[in-house]
Amino acid sequence: MRAFFALDIDPAMQHAIADWRDCAMPPVGRAVPPANFHITLHFLGNITAEQFPRLCAEAERIAAPKMALHLNESGYFPKPSVFWIAPAEIPADLLALAATIRKASRRAGLRTPTPRKSYQPHLTLFRNCRARPPLPTRNPDFDLTCDGFALFRSVFGRKGVRYEVVRRWTAE
Ligand code: 2AM
Repeated sequence: MRAFFALDIDPAMQHAIADWRDCAMPPVGRAVPPANFHITLHFLGNITAEQFPRLCAEAERIAAPKMALHLNESGYFPKPSVFWIAPAEIPADLLALAATIRKASRRAGLRTPTPRKSYQPHLTLFRNCRARPPLPTRNPDFDLTCDGFALFRSVFGRKGVRYEVVRRWTAE
């Protein structure tokens, strides 16, 4: 299965963010469905049936802290052509959690490619943008409380991709 670790977003917040996007931005690309909103911690790619239990056992040992995230910035990555929102100030806890998960994945035997760029936490709102999107008419301003992290898998269907939580670990 194609999998990744991410922070999940609760449904009320997913809808609040989608409402902001639909008011503050023109349709600059393919709108990500609110149920798919998440913040990737570590992308794994395809994992095997043997790797899955080892990965879960390693994730189980991670003591994730509770975190407050203020999503108050938006931007555009030209290479994957995605428009996103993100915290202007990235909490050290979030960077540490992503690093811990990368190490845990390696311990579980996953040889995920080292990303060329440093980890840039973001929540993608539009994919396949045709050009650099304009600035939003109103800045994003969302306070998230993150009380855990999850292993997601991508499920490909007729309506496109759906991200499904396979396992979730709650913060201490
Ligand atoms: P994105 O939102 O910036 O596109 C599921 O595909 C998640 O994993 C998405 O959040 C996506 O980031 C991220 N992702 C997909 N392919 C990736 C890759 N090769 N490296 C890092 N992250 C990736």
